[in-house]
Amino acid sequence: LSAQKEGFRFFMEKEIYEQSRVLADTLLGRLRDESIYFEELDNNLFEGINEIKLCACGTSYHAALVASYLFERHSKIRVSVEIASEFRYREPFLTADTLFIVISQSGETADTLESLKMAKRSGLKTMVICNVDNSSMVRLADASILTRAGIEKGVASTKAFATQVCVLWMLSLFLGGARKTLATEEIKRQIHLLRALPSTVNVENVLHEQLRRLSKRYLHGHGFFFIGRDVFYPLALEGALKLKEISYLHAEGYPSGEMKHGPIALADPELFTIALLPQHMLYDKTKSNIEELSARDSTICSISPLDFDKADDHIRTHLHEDYMLEFFEMMVVLQLLSMEIAIRLGNDVDMPRNLAKSVTVE
Ligand code: G6P
Repeated sequence: LSAQKEGFRFFMEKEIYEQSRVLADTLLGRLRDESIYFEELDNNLFEGINEIKLCACGTSYHAALVASYLFERHSKIRVSVEIASEFRYREPFLTADTLFIVISQSGETADTLESLKMAKRSGLKTMVICNVDNSSMVRLADASILTRAGIEKGVASTKAFATQVCVLWMLSLFLGGARKTLATEEIKRQIHLLRALPSTVNVENVLHEQLRRLSKRYLHGHGFFFIGRDVFYPLALEGALKLKEISYLHAEGYPSGEMKHGPIALADPELFTIALLPQHMLYDKTKSNIEELSARDSTICSISPLDFDKADDHIRTHLHEDYMLEFFEMMVVLQLLSMEIAIRLGNDVDMPRNLAKSVTVE
């Protein structure tokens, strides 16, 4: 088994390092000069569709939340996001002009699969974004897009999430083109960004080393808040989930602007805040949210390409031309940070206690 790890300590680590390659696979054949091409999609899939409902569990749910921002921004379509285990039992009101999209690494998660069946029974068009060909969901949905992350062994999802967000980003452009809500120039610009994804997620030794050293400081405390705005909010949720899953430390993801409505009462030096501060998304607003926390003595670890002198620790990311590239680089930082904290605590990060890779029972 250790041979398969190819020199990495854990499969999770190997899978984080694989992200550059699997993203290149996920993009392969799908980028044209001025449009996105999905050979697996029928041209009429979006005909008569006025709303998209996304449904998933766990990390895949966080990918769905990211997509809700991208779909509305690029395709000007109403989007709602559902946690599968809630959706199933709440007697949702469904209309035939809704495209129901489930997102699942395995294609077998019981609640997501049942939600898909429910949507089909209600007469909705369905689609799945999945990493496993011929899985139950792929067989059941009207349309499917495969994420090409390869087999993911670590229970905490990393490369599967990266490829999900990549596919959803491409789909938002595909739809923006079809609905004519995005100018060709803008689609071209974003295709150029997508081409930069594989190099954006490359792990540099200096960064990994910095995170390894930093992890020492974040082993004991009252807990963690991961904060961000816009797509960096679901990324914060995902960062907190990663940390919980493998380190067993208490962590919560929160929208930066919402901290003042309650959670800031917890602020003290034992409260660790991991703050996502991208250059190209609500920079000033986010910065002032972090400053409020710093003024109340919360211990801050900021992640940003720009200097930030109110932080106790600062992880400097690269300058990028767009927030989505910042998103992918920060995703890698959060994955490595959780992993290094968990390893330092002596945990088996590939097989965290109480968790399963795929939850096929209820
Ligand atoms: C389990 C896994 C998570 C995963 C979730 C949804 O809880 O431990 O990593 O995000 O299931 O799985 P799916 O295969 O549907 O994406």
